[in-house]
Amino acid sequence: MEKAKFYPVKGYIDFQKGATADIERFWEKEAEKLEWFKHWDKVLEWEEPFAKWFVGGKLNASYLCIDRHLYSWHKNKVALYWEDEAGNTKAYSYFQLYREVNKFASMLENLGVKKGDRVVLYLPMIPELTIAMLATVRIGAIHTVVFSGYSSQALADRINDTSAEVLIAADVGLRRGKYIPLKQIVDEALKAAPAIKKVVVIKRTKEEINMVAGRDLLYHDLIRDAKDYVEPKPMESMHPLFILYTSGTTGKPKGVVHSTGGYLVYINSTYKWVFDISDESVYWCTADVGWVTGHTSIVYAPLLHGATVLMYEGAPDYPHPDRWWEMIEKYGVTIFYTSPTAIKMFMRYGDERIKKHNLSSLKILGSVGEAINPEVWGWYYKNIGGERCPIVDTWWQTETGGIMISPVPGIELVPLKPGSATLPLPGIDAEVVDEEGNPVDTSVKGHLVIRKPWPGMLMGLYNNPERYKEAYWSKFKGLFYTGDYATKDEDGYFWLLGRTDEVLKVAGHRLGTAEVEGAVVEAPFVAEAAVIGKPDPIKGENIIVFAILKEGYKPADNLKQEIIKEVRKQIGPIATPQEIHFVDKLPKTRSGKIMRRVLKTIMMDKPVGDLSTLEDEASIDEVKAVYEEFKQVMKKKA
Ligand code: PRX
Repeated sequence: MEKAKFYPVKGYIDFQKGATADIERFWEKEAEKLEWFKHWDKVLEWEEPFAKWFVGGKLNASYLCIDRHLYSWHKNKVALYWEDEAGNTKAYSYFQLYREVNKFASMLENLGVKKGDRVVLYLPMIPELTIAMLATVRIGAIHTVVFSGYSSQALADRINDTSAEVLIAADVGLRRGKYIPLKQIVDEALKAAPAIKKVVVIKRTKEEINMVAGRDLLYHDLIRDAKDYVEPKPMESMHPLFILYTSGTTGKPKGVVHSTGGYLVYINSTYKWVFDISDESVYWCTADVGWVTGHTSIVYAPLLHGATVLMYEGAPDYPHPDRWWEMIEKYGVTIFYTSPTAIKMFMRYGDERIKKHNLSSLKILGSVGEAINPEVWGWYYKNIGGERCPIVDTWWQTETGGIMISPVPGIELVPLKPGSATLPLPGIDAEVVDEEGNPVDTSVKGHLVIRKPWPGMLMGLYNNPERYKEAYWSKFKGLFYTGDYATKDEDGYFWLLGRTDEVLKVAGHRLGTAEVEGAVVEAPFVAEAAVIGKPDPIKGENIIVFAILKEGYKPADNLKQEIIKEVRKQIGPIATPQEIHFVDKLPKTRSGKIMRRVLKTIMMDKPVGDLSTLEDEASIDEVKAVYEEFKQVMKKKA
């Protein structure tokens, strides 16, 4: 098997800089690679902080991902393989996907869904999720996918923010051999989200479910009256394609809005550069479609390129720890894209199980969601990639729509440095700056910012332009604030160093401390709470809660269980706290802000540092004492 070829970094940097110097010219050329129903009049209108890309142009995402492929040999190639943890399988050719998407789109029209309407999708990892997304955008409606691991409250919050009237759900999801009662969660959510008029239920099993007359309809009944063809509506480039909620520094999730034209142009080009994706690719991204990684990597980008997508429903190591390697071998996966948390989990299982499988189809490995440390990188490179597949460590965010910093084997493969996402993509003007917004010196830690607009950037936050300005454009004048720390080394390579703000990364999932605190204080006996992320060797971070109890309550294990239950109810299992500590006081500044930084350093057994703004030193002593006691108890248990 051929080994990856590396090229000197200089040539690529010159190209990257050239592209970034004249972004309009550069992105116009890239936009020509898609088929447009109407050419744009203007490449970019930039009224900071709002960018309009390819103004006047018209296109349709569903057409580009499916119909276009029917006029070539792609028509009968596999577009989508699906498999669940139990080994049930399905396969759809591009033609079959086209049929299903058209019928789904017709069903939506029959339900009265029109251009601009929001459709909420609360579905597990099943082909109908891809089909529903493509059907929604085919008629110019806007999808909001809500991760099916979210609780009823989290679902209700998202529905209410979009004021959607139609919800698509499934009876159940499947994980670790158990059904997750999704329809039941929907029923609970809709008590707090009354705007929903119709619920379409995709019934996968014979499980009994509650159906509310007049509101709930079965997909399999509705589809019988659906037409075979619905015209893909030519949509303005700036028409929103989707809204996707993500966590920020306040309790309320942010509805990130992505455009049709800019987003599609951006992901089309970047997936070619980063993954060298082609007709021959069998592309497997292990993320859930409920996150931006899944939107871009399981649905839009691979289908734009006419590749074959693999979709898997279930836990990575269930029913046995070989499950993923078995899948790579079985489907001849060529591009494999996963998270450092998953890799670290597999490292624990050892190498022997991997050696049993033929992974020689793999060409490129990807990593996303958190920094990958050199040890994990080395293990991935050797054991999964057989020392011949480059690893693309891709840095991006829900807000950026697509990958921003990564090696680009599809253009030129620069020497890789384990732990670095390497260089910004062509057209991306990334920089590391100090508190004043000036570029820092080599190897000095600073804020990662983007200095020029790019086509994949969010259009804004749904119904909230002020929050958009405040969150991304108020810290530094004229610079997009990513909320990440980074350094640049002597070769200009970027090294990501984690979040600057109150955002947590737990097993790659993004959660806000304020969001979790909001859930904790829903427990009737909690007066106040502070949440921090404590570094964890596998999951990146764990959620640690400090809670002050209301008068009359005493610290007890059953109260901890109640808090866990409340968090799972308000957000979902991904936000389950790992440790809960009861205290009488929280360290606060004189102006009343909780000093989470101080809590974190105590948890990490580090010196607390500057305490000049602290209101009451006794709070620190108490936290230290509580934590010491906790460590003693844990020691005894071990
Ligand atoms: O902190 C960065 C981290 O994930 C954040 C974005 O999270 P989300 O919007 O959920 O999107 C995740 C995947 C696109 C970033 O602000 N992050 C993402 N990729 C990397 C990363 N940190 C280090 N290295 C990466 N490759």
